Amino acid sequence: MKIFSTKQDVQQYIAALGNIRSGFVPTMGALHEGHISLINQAKTDNDVVICSIFVNPTQFNDPSDLEKYPRPIEADIRKLEAANCDILFNPPVSEMYENNEHWHLNIGQLEFLLEGEFRPGHYQGVTQVVYKLLDIIKPTSLYMGQKDYQQFMVVSRMVELLNMPVKMVMCPIEREPDGLAMSSRNIHLTADDRKHSLVLSKALNWVKQNFNISSIAKLEEDAIDMLQAEPGVEPDYFEIADGKTLLPADEQSETIVALTAAKVGKTRLIDNVLIK
Ligand code: PAJ
Repeated sequence: MKIFSTKQDVQQYIAALGNIRSGFVPTMGALHEGHISLINQAKTDNDVVICSIFVNPTQFNDPSDLEKYPRPIEADIRKLEAANCDILFNPPVSEMYENNEHWHLNIGQLEFLLEGEFRPGHYQGVTQVVYKLLDIIKPTSLYMGQKDYQQFMVVSRMVELLNMPVKMVMCPIEREPDGLAMSSRNIHLTADDRKHSLVLSKALNWVKQNFNISSIAKLEEDAIDMLQAEPGVEPDYFEIADGKTLLPADEQSETIVALTAAKVGKTRLIDNVLIK
């Protein structure tokens, strides 16, 4: 695997490859099987796979979350090599941002719903960095996980609004055998938190199973009750939303997704399930 830390070097190397199909997997590192599943899908679809590892400071609204974000770069490199990733772009912050960059993209209300409400500015940081990364890498396809469903929709909206020539590919959520969605943040869970964290996937699956039986409002209420009844779990939201707009689902919704975020102990987790 070729590893680059500057824009110029990675751009030069990719340009020399000529007219190839390339798949790009942006990450913040601390790689797990969820990330590797994106690499595998990109490998299947393309001639060359590029992964980036960059803990993007502008998307962290909580400075302590940024500070304690895990950065096991050596282990990450080994995992990417084992997955036959072709190129790793691992820039320092100074390579991605000038001092005091304040611009951001306006992608409309999608950025203010759900996660946007609880993490103000988060999606401005995400669109900023993904825009820059796409501009550097210029991939044929961009691989992102359903795990961060709203992030996928936010980036898709940016790509659509700016006519960026890249195909968006959503990859399914990889889970632990007991149902917990894999996440770089799971290492912060204590043994007790880890047990209680299962209520997120349980509540989502329960709602999926009962979707045609109860009203949406009742399902959301019951799911919140289920989360609150679990020790150490504090839900931020549980919403049954239109899969495209993420506004409340209605009869017009072609796709429907249930999304939740909750603090489990000191760790904030998100999860979702496609209902329709
Ligand atoms: P990160 O949290 O490292 O996630 C990188 C990619 O892996 C995202 O597309 C995410 O949805 C996907 N992913 C995470 N957990 C997954 C799981 N359990 N199953 C499948 N895919 C999973 O998301 C980010 O980084 C950043 O916001 C980024 C897009 C890199 C911009 O900084």
